[in-house]
Parts: sequence; structure tokens; C-alpha cells
Amino acid sequence: MKRYIFFVMAFCMAAIFFISNFAFALPSGPKLFKEYYCIDCHTLGHQGGTVGPDLSYVGKTKSFSWIKAQILNPDSHFILGEKKEINGKIYLTRMPGFAKTIPSSVVNKLAGYIKSFPYKRANLAYKKPPKGLLLFRADNCVACHRINGVGGTVGPNLSHIGKTKSLSWIETQIVAPSVHFTYGIPATINGHTYLVIMPELKNIPASQLNTIARYLESLK
Ligand code: HEC
Ligand code: HEC
Repeated sequence: MKRYIFFVMAFCMAAIFFISNFAFALPSGPKLFKEYYCIDCHTLGHQGGTVGPDLSYVGKTKSFSWIKAQILNPDSHFILGEKKEINGKIYLTRMPGFAKTIPSSVVNKLAGYIKSFPYKRANLAYKKPPKGLLLFRADNCVACHRINGVGGTVGPNLSHIGKTKSLSWIETQIVAPSVHFTYGIPATINGHTYLVIMPELKNIPASQLNTIARYLESLK
């Protein structure tokens, strides 16, 4: 009998540990939706951007695995740069794939959160980010660069780039990185070595170039 109680207790403790791991290991769905800047382009519940479709009812028609695939690799559903009608509105398909920048546990949590709508209520306070940051994301700089912990690691962390680089240096780097770095050769920046592969962003309108560069220059 004693032994039986011991096993029941051990089982309960293991179960509590297991469940709490699931519940507390990751920030909540709404937090992640903000942290990975889905909210800049998408409304969920009441708040958010309008670059991409409102996601409040996606869970009604799309499966968990479809949503997951969309986050990891939107190319599997949409052709980048095409105009596409989604729920009666036309969108330019430009969602970046997050396969390299979001850990799979977070992708699962985000997909589950979106799938749970419209049955769950949103609780998202949304403050629109600076325009320069939105362009930084829309032009996919974020695939290679991190700012405050979000983004890729192919290129240097830009969280403090404004401390050492001027506005005009940053503008040149965006349209003509070869003025500063020799393509295809490793370069050491802040103690890390990177293969120089940053693409030239040739066709960016001057005002947008200035907006991104001013934003980066402001990061001290
Ligand atoms: C730069 C803007 C942008 C960001 C950031 C973004 N999306 Fe999207 N999303 C779009 C656009 C535009 C579409 C339309 C299809 C496409 O572009 O692939 C879309 C489509 C979707 C769809 C399918 C909607 C439907 O009704 O078919 C889902 C689901 C989705 N996004 C989830 C997310 C999640 C989750 C995140 C954050 C990890 C995210 N998106 C980040 C712009 C964005
Ligand atoms: C494919 C990956 C990639 C993309 C996309 C990319 N970069 Fe880079 N970036 C790099 C790499 C690698 C370097 C190191 C030098 C080089 O390659 O020219 C770099 C260097 C930089 C630097 C200098 C950093 C320093 O500390 O000296 C800035 C600023 C910068 N990138 C801004 C941007 C902006 C803004 C965009 C979007 C318009 C962008 N990058 C897009 C990979 C990328």
C-alpha cells in the first residue's frame, strides 16, 4: 500500500513538472505575436497592422500544420511579389519566411495561438513601431541582422550601429556594400568574422533609404 502511494505521488510530481514546463517555458501567444513582429503586419483580435491579412479567422479554415508552414515558409503557399486576394482584399505577397529566425517551439506555439482564434480573446496592446524598423523588416534586412534580439545572424548585430557609424556610411552600406567590404571575402566586425555577402539594395526609393538609415543611426 505504501509503495502504491509513493508511485502515485511520484507520478503526480512528474506530471506537474511536465505540464508546467509546457505552460511556462515560453512567453504567451500574444507576447510572441508581438515579439516576432507578426503584429506589425497582421491584426489578430483587434490590434495590429494591415500589410498582411487579418488573422482572426484563419483558424476557422486553415489547419494547424498549414499555419505552421506559412510561418516557416510562405513560399509553399504564395508566390512572393504577386498580388493575391485573401478574404476579399488584395495583398502584395511579401511575408518573410521565419524558418531560420524563429525556433520551432515558438513556431508551434504561434501556430496554436492563431489556430485557437476566434475562440480566444486577444489581449494585445499595439504600439506601431518606427517606420524605419518596419522597412528594415519589409526589405528583409531582418533575415540577416538582429536588432534587440530579433533577426538572423548571417550579418552583424545592428542593435548599436549608430554608436560607431554615420548616417551617410549606413546609406552607402545599404545601396553599395562593396564600397566598404570586398564581396566573398571574410571581414571581422566587432570581433566576429562574417563572409561578406550583403546584397546591394539598388532600387530602394531615396526616401525609404533615408528612413531606414536614420532609424539605424538612432540605435546607440
Ligand atoms: C512584413 C509583413 C509580415 C510579417 C512580419 C508577417 N506576415 Fe504573415 N502575411 C503577410 C502577408 C503580406 C501575407 C499574405 C501572403 C504572403 O505574403 O505570403 C501573410 C499571410 C499570413 C498568413 C496566412 C493568412 C491567410 O488568411 O491565408 C498567416 C497565418 C500569417 N501570415 C502568419 C504570420 C505570423 C504568425 C507572423 C509572425 C511570425 C507573420 N505572419 C509575420 C505579411 C507579414
Ligand atoms: C543576405 C544577408 C544580408 C542581408 C539581406 C542584409 N545584410 Fe547587412 N550585412 C550582411 C553581412 C554579411 C554584413 C557584413 C559586411 C558585408 O557583407 O557587406 C552586413 C553588414 C551590414 C552593416 C554594417 C554593420 C557593421 O557593424 O559594420 C549594416 C549597417 C547593414 N549590413 C545593414 C543592412 C540593411 C539596412 C539591410 C536591409 C536593407 C541589410 N543589411 C541586408 C548581411 C546582410
